[in-house]
Amino acid sequence: MFNAVQVINQVVFFLVIISVQSSQASVPETLLDSESSRPIVHTPVGCFRGLRAQDGDYSMFLGIPYARVDPENVFGTPIPVRFEGIFEANDDTAICPQKEEFNKTITGKLDCLHINIYVPNSASVDHPVPVMTHIFGGKFEFGFPSRYVYGPRFLVRHDVIFITFNYRLGPYGFFCLNTSKVPGNQGLKDQVHALRWIKENIRYFGGDDSKITLEGNSAGAMSVDLHQHFLQEPLYNRVIIQSGVLLTNGVIQHPDPDAPLKLAKQLNYTTNDINEALSFLNKVEPHELIAATTDSDMFVGPCVEKQFDNAENYIMKYPANVNSVRIVDVLIGFTNDEGYGGITVMEKEEFEKKDFVSELLEAYYDFKNESKILNDMKKIVRSFYYGSNLHRADNMRPGINIFADFVMYHPIIRTIRKYLDSGVENMYLYMFSYAGERDFAKDKDNLSNTEGTATHADELGYLFDISYMKERVRDEDMLIVDMMTELWTNFAKHGNPTPKPSKLIPLQWPRVSQDKLPYLEINTELRLGSRPMHERMSFLDLLYKHIGRYHKEHLWIEH
Ligand SMILES: *[C@@H]1O[C@H](CO)[C@@H](O)[C@H](O)[C@H]1NC(C)=O
Ligand SMILES: *[C@@H]1O[C@H](CO)[C@@H](O)[C@H](O)[C@H]1NC(C)=O
Ligand SMILES: *[C@@H]1O[C@H](CO)[C@@H](O)[C@H](O)[C@H]1NC(C)=O
Ligand SMILES: *[C@@H]1O[C@H](CO)[C@@H](O)[C@H](O)[C@H]1NC(C)=O
Ligand SMILES: *[C@@H]1O[C@H](CO)[C@@H](O)[C@H](O)[C@H]1NC(C)=O
Repeated sequence: MFNAVQVINQVVFFLVIISVQSSQASVPETLLDSESSRPIVHTPVGCFRGLRAQDGDYSMFLGIPYARVDPENVFGTPIPVRFEGIFEANDDTAICPQKEEFNKTITGKLDCLHINIYVPNSASVDHPVPVMTHIFGGKFEFGFPSRYVYGPRFLVRHDVIFITFNYRLGPYGFFCLNTSKVPGNQGLKDQVHALRWIKENIRYFGGDDSKITLEGNSAGAMSVDLHQHFLQEPLYNRVIIQSGVLLTNGVIQHPDPDAPLKLAKQLNYTTNDINEALSFLNKVEPHELIAATTDSDMFVGPCVEKQFDNAENYIMKYPANVNSVRIVDVLIGFTNDEGYGGITVMEKEEFEKKDFVSELLEAYYDFKNESKILNDMKKIVRSFYYGSNLHRADNMRPGINIFADFVMYHPIIRTIRKYLDSGVENMYLYMFSYAGERDFAKDKDNLSNTEGTATHADELGYLFDISYMKERVRDEDMLIVDMMTELWTNFAKHGNPTPKPSKLIPLQWPRVSQDKLPYLEINTELRLGSRPMHERMSFLDLLYKHIGRYHKEHLWIEH
């Protein structure tokens, strides 16, 4: 069976972000531990002793536990934590159990619900600075927030606090079951716990808790969009959504209620009783459970939960049934060749076996028994994307475009309309098109790119001081780093990425409105455009209008 999960899995769904301005101010004396000259922050949940950064004017508070996984129910609600005495916040290496994407090793432990906080020296309780919290991506299956990827240096020099955190992944984060102990979406609920911790405590670090920007890339951006739909509390003020939204088919899963039975069986424990299987899995060593999950090709992700009186529920309906999102400032966008990486990593034979037209139409639409309509639509879509070209590995371009349009561009354009219809008025659209030596995804997958375009997640290398890219400091790449971080942190500070023209960014980026879709193209020359990929998006609009009643999202709408 084809499903959109496979499609999504092909996209290297990965990670997220952000921040701007530098300062020579020094850490206020009150924040310094007189003996070690290490910074200390006192909060109602404990005292945290951090580290002074060696590569900039900022302090780091690493690995602060914001909650603890319940050893009695590792798939459920975590336990709040507070500390007596001083917590040594000097280790950002915690990773939740997963098969990580770099060396494909199974790693991580359940003591992972940690936050990392990077505080510029200019920040103090009396002069709080804006806060940027980044949710990493990774298909809800992998990812971790350390400085391995999310080095803060480029962002904190603009006088913002930058924060990253872990959340549970795979079965630990996303088992979705018919039991109040494991109702589903635990990884997203972990995120909410982290956001509450930040809202309640960041002022003690010198953060302005009325200027919190939540940002994410890929599955991190999907998480942000989920919070926009379902979060009931005002825990942030602005969002940055990079290449990921809920309207991508397959983000909300149809959960397999028997998932624990299958994984237990994979581990040689046979039972038909969910509770027995859960007690067994609860005690299994996390690396074994992750291995069983990957060995059985099981994918779990966000779901619509069953309602329980005694459970912390979060997602209770399909997003299509939620008509209003939180009204906050929004920065949203994509790279200009989202599909390039996900498609070109495929082997030639695997690629040629694919029938993207059928797979994508069937991922998004359900024609039931009306096979004539499906066949008509296939012809029309094939003709639009392929013309007289054949589907062949020596010309992947039509496949790359159709994939990106269905999975990323059109869902994002429709999300922008939904946000406008909800009343979001302050929204900016970007398209990142630069290709250089710091492209995150192409570098990771060792892809050369003669077209000079940016693919999914490539922009991360221009926001973050990635640990293994320290030597890559060509002028052109650093120019993009400077522009990206100035735009992103301006947005975090002012709700506007171009509050006034600067030397680096000598233009004003107009907002999106109901009848205009301006965007900023981010490259060595910044360029304002209008209606990105206009023809392809108009084609998909027309298709959607014509056969929208078969769209799966409409099948979920409660009338
Ligand atoms: C992957 O392996 C390389 C080489 O051994 C190592 O330097 C790097 O830290 C590893 N990355 C992760 C995420 O474990
Ligand atoms: C969920 O569990 C309840 C109580 O055990 C049961 O009555 C109900 O049929 C179950 N629902 C599904 C869809 O399995
Ligand atoms: C399960 O049992 C099979 C057959 O005895 C064995 O090969 C396999 O290693 C066992 N798996 C685990 C996880 O113990
Ligand atoms: C499809 O099935 C529905 C009822 O399930 C029926 O009313 C309709 O005529 C069928 N359409 C075709 C083209 O067979
Ligand atoms: C990356 O690709 C180049 C050629 O494009 C090849 O020479 C090199 O061995 C590859 N590196 C890895 C780690 O696969």
